[in-house]
Amino acid sequence: MSQEKLTWYEAQVVKDMFSTMGGRAVRGVMSNYFSSRIYTGKLGLIQITNYLEAMLEPEERRALIICDDFTQKFAKKITDYLDTINMEWKVWPGAIPEVPIETIEEGARVCEEFKPRVIFGIGGGSVMDTVKMVLIKYEKPEENLLMILPFFGSLGLRKKVKFWIAVPTTSGTGSEVTQAAVITDTSRKPPKKIEVLSDEIFSDITLLDPYFVKDMPPFLTMATGLDALAHALGAYVSNWGTPFIDALNLKAIEETIKYLPRAVKFGARDMEARSHMQMASLMAGIGFGNTTTGIDHSLGHSFGKIFGVHHGLSVGLFLPYSIEFQYKVTDRWKDLLPLFKIKPENKSRDQLFMEFIEALKDFIRSIDGPTCVQELTRPKIEKEEYMSKLDLAAEYANDDAVSLTSYRPINKELYKKIYEYAWDGKFIDF
Ligand SMILES: [Fe+2]
Repeated sequence: MSQEKLTWYEAQVVKDMFSTMGGRAVRGVMSNYFSSRIYTGKLGLIQITNYLEAMLEPEERRALIICDDFTQKFAKKITDYLDTINMEWKVWPGAIPEVPIETIEEGARVCEEFKPRVIFGIGGGSVMDTVKMVLIKYEKPEENLLMILPFFGSLGLRKKVKFWIAVPTTSGTGSEVTQAAVITDTSRKPPKKIEVLSDEIFSDITLLDPYFVKDMPPFLTMATGLDALAHALGAYVSNWGTPFIDALNLKAIEETIKYLPRAVKFGARDMEARSHMQMASLMAGIGFGNTTTGIDHSLGHSFGKIFGVHHGLSVGLFLPYSIEFQYKVTDRWKDLLPLFKIKPENKSRDQLFMEFIEALKDFIRSIDGPTCVQELTRPKIEKEEYMSKLDLAAEYANDDAVSLTSYRPINKELYKKIYEYAWDGKFIDF
């Protein structure tokens, strides 16, 4: 593959640099805290509308609403408010799952024609990530998305779009408050998920109104909820946290354990659980967005792409293995024992850890989530097919940006071994 096709984090020099520095040594560059203005509840949309009215000159009141086929049904809720401040608007329901680069280019063309000063994104992670990338391509058409350097490379966005407003319709991705987008490079065969990081793609405003998530079906509630759990837990155990971020991740884990089962079971009949899961997801989003996820995300990105499995389901499945892999180098998981109601009395480190992993797996099973690949039903994967693709899966996982920040150094061979163990739930003993 030619060098131009690689992302910055696939370059060998970057991998070498990170592996010699180790996680905590480079944490300095990951200790800035970014987030949006966050409006919650039923009054949030009114408050945002008032804010836009105050901030935008009449000639600037042009809003593009980016959504997908499914979430375009929510657009009217927004446009009704925009009409009250004489805002011109256009709905573009062109976002699609996996965020292929072609879609991003199409979105930038729509912007070029309509010239929005405000962009709303209504949807799950794919819509959020589409908006982030469209924002870059619209404002900086010459920018190579694969080579945007986080931490150091300022892009100079917001010269055309004044406000990007995130309206999540799922509770889990946290994408409404992160500086990351996962997109698909369709020029690779097979296509590969790649990450783009920039502190300028955070949404300026986030609206958490339970109205937009209340009708999520149980499967989506479960899968996106597992994504939130993986963000918070993976980030906490990763050893990159700071006290500010640790507090958010701990609370996000606690809230998810308490409210996700209720949200899955009762859906729109339990708006309290819906609302708590929105907040848990947001806290986990800030939690991992300002540190890193665990390798459950590199394992899950690659696995999900190759076998067509939902992102949240993929990372939730690999979460126990990701933590088991870090067991040799950290005790951070011990802080989580009270959340899983495990008492440390007279137990060895090994015993406690096994109890912790079992409690985590029990929780995942309690909401009908899979804890090993052979348990997966959406889709069902045959063992032979799975094993035959593990070299590719390991290669993609190893080239994932998350691999750079694994507290315990990892490589392709170790990834392959983890994938093998995850077939039937074997404990990571290497
Ligand atoms: Fe995720």
